[in-house]
Amino acid sequence: MSINANSASANASRGVIERYRGFLPVSEATPVISLGEGSTPLVYAAKLSARIGNGCAVYIKNEGLNPTGSFKDRGMTVAVSKAIEKGARALICASTGNTSASAAAYAAKAGIPCAVILPARKIASGKLLQAFVHGAKIVAIDGNFDDALRIVLELGERNEFAIVNSINPDRIAGQKTAAFEIIDLLGDAPNIHILPLGNAGNISAYWAGYREYQACGKSTRLPAMIGIQAAGAAPIFHNRVIENPQTIATAIRIGNPASWKQARAAVDESRGAVDIATDEEILAAQKWLAQNEGLFVEPASAAPIAGLVKHEAIPGDSLIVCTVTGHGLKDPDAQKFDWMEPVAPNADNVLRAIGF
Ligand code: F0G
Repeated sequence: MSINANSASANASRGVIERYRGFLPVSEATPVISLGEGSTPLVYAAKLSARIGNGCAVYIKNEGLNPTGSFKDRGMTVAVSKAIEKGARALICASTGNTSASAAAYAAKAGIPCAVILPARKIASGKLLQAFVHGAKIVAIDGNFDDALRIVLELGERNEFAIVNSINPDRIAGQKTAAFEIIDLLGDAPNIHILPLGNAGNISAYWAGYREYQACGKSTRLPAMIGIQAAGAAPIFHNRVIENPQTIATAIRIGNPASWKQARAAVDESRGAVDIATDEEILAAQKWLAQNEGLFVEPASAAPIAGLVKHEAIPGDSLIVCTVTGHGLKDPDAQKFDWMEPVAPNADNVLRAIGF
């Protein structure tokens, strides 16, 4: 069978570098390390729209459908491609889980080692499994994400490591392509964009993407950016460092976000907001989304849904985009379920068991 590489490469599965090359810090000399990231679904959420009411339409950007199951892949393809171009010998990152899974996968594709520094016992098991299976060198520290990032910054001063956390501008450049995709599909920017807020890279990336596309005439307006933090890990909301952040949404368990200033600027310039959701609200939103919209997302990704449904100041007829950042299967322990008692193997028993 012959494969037409040109037609294969003409479609969207080429990844964000090929799709948005002109907007990214790459040249012909940059080796493209891609897993076919981006081009994720933007799904109209009919029941969520009805719940918000007042003529609002809500679309969900499902970033859990990236190659490693989170939005990190958009930035990682750029960061790793640039690191290889510059001759880096190894990647290093601190992570609450998803960055490490993504870095480990792209390092494997690039053929270089990857070290990941994680807060011990606070990583969802699916993410740790990913880093392990992709062959990363994993170090768990007795500390939180903020401690891990401090160590990585120190080690990054040695030339052999390329830091692939979102403090790396190549990560932010790649992540802004999600805003491009939204405008390319909707024909304009939404009125409101709502997303989870952790280390604060992603909100800054979206804001950069929205502004860049507007500046080149691809959209007529800018959305209000709304970031949702977990109530127990809400430094930007409270405007102070949280020494011991706590939340079931481990992906955003961060007390001193690296891109705090940029996130604040995005929220202020866009006349948006920072809000919080409790763990109970996050878990309820996670279940509601799974049972009403058919989307299973990890707890951090349910935070914006939790924030949206209780937000009181949404103008009527708003076009709202909500980014869900990671797949629900990454964190199989967040929702509790019971192993069911087996029944005898016949149709009558099965019918009774399902209540028909
Ligand atoms: N949602 C998920 C699923 C995440 O993994 C993260 C961050 C965020 C939201 C917040 O994005 O940091 O750009 O504000 N995870 C990082 C990590 C910190 O290490 O995987 P942010």
